[in-house]
Amino acid sequence: MFSRIVATGSSVPELEVGNDELAGLVDTSDEWIVTRTGMSRRHIATTDTTSSLAAAAARKALDAAGLSADDIDLIMVATVTPDNFTPTVSCQVQAALGNTAATCLDLWAGCSGFVYSLRVADSMIRAGGVHRALIIGAETLSRVVDWTDRNTCVLFGDGAGAVVLEASDEPGVLACVTRSDGSRGNVLRIPGLANSNPWAIKAASDADAIAPPPSVISMDGQEVFRFAVGAIQWSLEESARIAGIDISSIYRIIPHQANNRIIDAVASRMGIERDVFYTNLQRFGNTSAASIPLALDELNRAESIPVGAYLALVGFGGGLTWGGSVIRWAQTA
Ligand code: ACO
Repeated sequence: MFSRIVATGSSVPELEVGNDELAGLVDTSDEWIVTRTGMSRRHIATTDTTSSLAAAAARKALDAAGLSADDIDLIMVATVTPDNFTPTVSCQVQAALGNTAATCLDLWAGCSGFVYSLRVADSMIRAGGVHRALIIGAETLSRVVDWTDRNTCVLFGDGAGAVVLEASDEPGVLACVTRSDGSRGNVLRIPGLANSNPWAIKAASDADAIAPPPSVISMDGQEVFRFAVGAIQWSLEESARIAGIDISSIYRIIPHQANNRIIDAVASRMGIERDVFYTNLQRFGNTSAASIPLALDELNRAESIPVGAYLALVGFGGGLTWGGSVIRWAQTA
């Protein structure tokens, strides 16, 4: 028993924000952002939420597969920006789709969330408990960005991507590898809620000590850069090794869309043609857990990926977390 991707979908908010518009918010410029990141614009949510984008991407994937909502028995959403702590985004998607058959599960693994989710869903399908899964990466990072911080606010965008993964006799997902290093968690943070119960307040010697930290992204950009290059290389090499293929036979690598310079550095270090790496960060920015399925859907719709072609998906992000997958492309609907 194997699993394979049979359809893709994606959704982004209507509003596009260009670099020049950000230069009106913080001390930056189009030239700086393009040179340092490769990004020109990104989509920003106004009325959309993480769950509405996730549901829209899921509907498109279901439509592409010619499936109805109740054909799905697992809904997984990778996100770090859920609408609520509960209900989960996956449960909200279930309700929006009118699905009654699925187990719903959110997964937090930063920008690696989609690759982690693929590994979990693939394992559940192989174990025989699940026949068909919707795996979605969805984010509204614009809610956790500090719009006065030029170091971070130029990097992120909102959106969602989805795939339908189903049980198959033919191999589709050939390898999934994941790693984590919690000791380096502070490199990239979005704080959670502070404990402000009366006893915690009493126990605190300084009331400021328990003031809720602002829930905004902070990161050590250069440290993330260094980490990312090694993480992508390991994920590619390890997933290709387990899949039993040579990296040179990969048709396209879809990396997490964090920064063009990270991808340039990996390509040159590993001697891989830059064009093998598919990027759309120029138009979408970094959409964290959504970036890989968003790029995969765009690639799938823009060109006909040859059946049997090898694709590699590679994620890295907060936690720290990283991982990769090699898939053999199936006929998509
Ligand atoms: N506009 C203008 N100047 C800026 C901006 C900006 N938007 N942001 C930072 N600067 C300034 C800094 O203040 C600094 O000024 P100083 O020298 O006067 O102190 C200068 O530019 C250089 O700053 P660096 O941090 O050294 O710039 P660097 O070349 O490293 O680029 C960047 C920063 C783009 C964040 C880079 O480190 C990077 O891409 N790191 C990877 C981080 C990443 O991709 N994060 C995404 C989230 S994590 C994830 O998805 C896994």
